[in-house]
Amino acid sequence: MSDIVTVIAPVNIAVIKYWGKRDEELILPLNDSVSATLDTSVMCAKTSVCARSSFAEDEIWLNKEKVSFSKRLQNCLREIKARAAAEKTVDEAFLERKIHVCSENNFPTAAGLASSAAGYACFVSALAKLYKVKSDVSSIARLGSGSACRSVYGGFVRWHAGTNPDGSDSVATQIADSKHWPEMRALILVVGDAKKTTSSTGGMSISVKTSELMKHRVQYCVPQRTEAIIDAIRKKDFPKFAEITMKDSNQFHAICQDSYPPFVYMNDTSHYIVSLIHKYNEISGEVKVAYTFDAGSNACLYLLEKEVPKIISLIKYAFPSSNPDSFLTGLASEEEVLSPEILNICEPQTKDLIKYAIYTKVGEGPSEVSDGSHLLDDNGMPKA
Ligand code: PMV
Repeated sequence: MSDIVTVIAPVNIAVIKYWGKRDEELILPLNDSVSATLDTSVMCAKTSVCARSSFAEDEIWLNKEKVSFSKRLQNCLREIKARAAAEKTVDEAFLERKIHVCSENNFPTAAGLASSAAGYACFVSALAKLYKVKSDVSSIARLGSGSACRSVYGGFVRWHAGTNPDGSDSVATQIADSKHWPEMRALILVVGDAKKTTSSTGGMSISVKTSELMKHRVQYCVPQRTEAIIDAIRKKDFPKFAEITMKDSNQFHAICQDSYPPFVYMNDTSHYIVSLIHKYNEISGEVKVAYTFDAGSNACLYLLEKEVPKIISLIKYAFPSSNPDSFLTGLASEEEVLSPEILNICEPQTKDLIKYAIYTKVGEGPSEVSDGSHLLDDNGMPKA
């Protein structure tokens, strides 16, 4: 039997955003956050790990390139080993072995699609299997990238900010599993923008130091919104879920503007998407679609399955593509002939403002791959 462990892990997109750390070293947030975990059959990170006494040092290859075993990776590895030692799951000699890690995403890393969340959740889940750690590892994934702790679970997930200075209560828990709201869908609109943006770590640090709005959000808005959106998820109340999602995204981007110096993640196309969704909801007489934006210009739309054919047709009409046949990836979907009333809410924009779209749904947490499709070969080296 092979000693290589391979795991796939999902992306998650927050509906209540994590923005701001109270401890930069331990990656402890100022506020709770809530997200949906997305289907690994559409987007996932895949990681193979193995530990051998013949390895000279810890080494990692990311998307086929050798990269440095960063401080954050080292922190995750150290904590998993400490857990394994405490739980006495493997012997001392095994803990002393060096490891080889090979990881890749099945979606473009550069597109800014929460790849670090999937990547660190995958790395930590693979290590947990390798070292036979059974306890919750969300607080260890958190040490890689804050939002990664939410990708350790499927369905709808809450990251509790916690209050302990050592971060022991800053963990993720599942609100509802992936089968709870089977009609929920996500449509990710990849907005072409080559501009380099402020990193999430850099942006958060400026906001924490300078934004007055941020204090208000952390103290008053997030606690109320978190309870309200959890209630909406439990009751499957889409209009409420959508309204909170949009308001929280808007407030997060307002905080970026309120920071000093200010920085922006959304561009003109992002703002056009916002106004299009509001117009669509208005003529629908009910909130049917929600948008949310992370630290980039891409939109993630949350909507129910029955709304998908209309929204895909609307997006294709408003944002024409030079490659209409490859514009939409992910789950199979239909389109619908749009009524004049819907066509009236927008003008087709110049081509390729949206590069492509990914249609997906809520899915499960990390899982071990059992078909032997490891990324490391028998020598523990990346497969050619
Ligand atoms: O985990 P990080 O450092 O990549 O920060 C993620 C921050 C947002 O994506 C903007 C919000 C969130 O909660 O995922």
